[in-house]
Amino acid sequence: MKNVIILGAGGNIARHVIDILVKRDDINLTLFLRDKSRLRNKDVSRCRIIEGDVLNYDQLKEAIAGQDVVYANLSGDLEAMAKQIVEAMDETEVKKLIFISSIGIYDVPLRPVLKPYRKAADVIEASDLEYTILRPTWFTNADEVDYETTAKGEPERGSVISQKSSATLITKIIESPEEYARENLGVNKPNS
Ligand SMILES: NC(=O)c1ccc[n+]([C@@H]2O[C@H](COP(=O)([O-])OP(=O)(O)OC[C@H]3O[C@@H](n4cnc5c(N)ncnc54)[C@H](OP(=O)(O)O)[C@@H]3O)[C@@H](O)[C@H]2O)c1
Repeated sequence: MKNVIILGAGGNIARHVIDILVKRDDINLTLFLRDKSRLRNKDVSRCRIIEGDVLNYDQLKEAIAGQDVVYANLSGDLEAMAKQIVEAMDETEVKKLIFISSIGIYDVPLRPVLKPYRKAADVIEASDLEYTILRPTWFTNADEVDYETTAKGEPERGSVISQKSSATLITKIIESPEEYARENLGVNKPNS
């Protein structure tokens, strides 16, 4: 059994990831969110649910202890959150972090709205975690799975990506973390 925790489990992409992972018998899923009434999944009966705030270090560390994979689906003060997550993972010796950032974080000049996303990525890259940072383009609700990735340093491509595609990639990373270790990937729909 693999222990997986989703931080910000009420978020849009997290909802799709939960729908995929709840069907898996080999995954123990923990959902961490500030208010469990925001969960919109039909069936979370097999999940452990923790109400907590990522910026509350004690709550975060307790939730992360014993996990194999931490998947952060967060918004807000992402730099502060990334620092807390890295520290909590270091202290609890959890190695695998999947963190959703955004397209455009290496653009010059950097758009002010993207500064927290860039700073969070910098914090994570400076850690010794087995991280995967994802930099998706703009999300759509399209009911399709069609994506490609670009490596860090390559020009980012495309303009959209379905939420379902992003969730599918995240579940692949959860399944095969070693394939994506210390990667920082742009994610887009081909030819979009
Ligand atoms: N929209 C796009 O097209 C696009 C494109 C590229 C990247 N992104 C980024 O990709 C990420 C994931 O997207 P998404 O649409 O799934 O995000 P989302 O729906 O906004 O989810 C973010 C989650 O973070 C949670 N959160 C915020 N502060 C928290 C805290 N202190 N403790 C615990 N949870 C906290 C929120 O929970 P509450 O319900 O408690 O507020 C919310 O559920 C976001 O950072 C987003 O900006 C978005």
